[in-house]
Amino acid sequence: MTTVHTDQKTKTVPRHVAIIMDGNGRWARERGLPRVAGHRAGTENLRTIIRASANLGIEYLTLYAFSTENWSRPKAEVTGLMHILSDVIDRELDELNEEGARLIHIGHLKGLSKALQKKVRHAIDLTRGNQQINIILAFNYGGRDEIIHAIKAMLKDGVDPDDVDEDLVNQYLFTRDLPDPDLVIRTSGEQRTSNFLTWQTVYSEWYFPQVYWPDFDEDELRKAIEDYATRDRRFGALEES
Ligand code: FPP
Repeated sequence: MTTVHTDQKTKTVPRHVAIIMDGNGRWARERGLPRVAGHRAGTENLRTIIRASANLGIEYLTLYAFSTENWSRPKAEVTGLMHILSDVIDRELDELNEEGARLIHIGHLKGLSKALQKKVRHAIDLTRGNQQINIILAFNYGGRDEIIHAIKAMLKDGVDPDDVDEDLVNQYLFTRDLPDPDLVIRTSGEQRTSNFLTWQTVYSEWYFPQVYWPDFDEDELRKAIEDYATRDRRFGALEES
């Protein structure tokens, strides 16, 4: 069976926006700062974009914060990103919870320190019932890894090959029960998918603004939404004449 989300055909505000927050390193280098300073500036920007997204009526916001490939970055940068995640939860969780944000994680928590895993789980548990906006944090996430993980789980469950269809695969992904992204934004001018939501983005609209992530402000988000509103989403089909 093929799942086609035609309900998004006529919507001007995407229900699900996913962002590859690229360009932190270049933003920092241009200012003579260490790369981690760019990630910190990018983190500050998250506040703005999360609030603007909620105000615009975006229901799901996925943020690519750490990929399975990012482990091969210099140790100081990896440690810096772990600290940032920890700090963000410490500083922002209560306010996000009060504002009705629900935090979801996709990827593997295994690989993070025990303390950080506990912190993330606590944030997920605390915000589980919130309904204002869903914030999906892709941390230690890779699209191919997700598919391999799903295949292994299906084999372990002894799934009958004849029962494998798109809906079943969806249920084995980290994103089970989440709608596919309508709009994917990659900042900084790079035009690659970089192992992000490989299965889920086959019919997403893509948008590539030139600005680095720390400079992607509310105006930039509005421009992305306006551009999305001009797209003709056909999901592989044709309009009836
Ligand atoms: C890509 O820019 C960005 C990342 C790999 C990390 C994104 C992380 C944040 C914005 C911080 C928020 C994090 C959490 C945990 C909430 P890049 O470093 O590849 O930039 P470059 O291409 O200019 O070098």
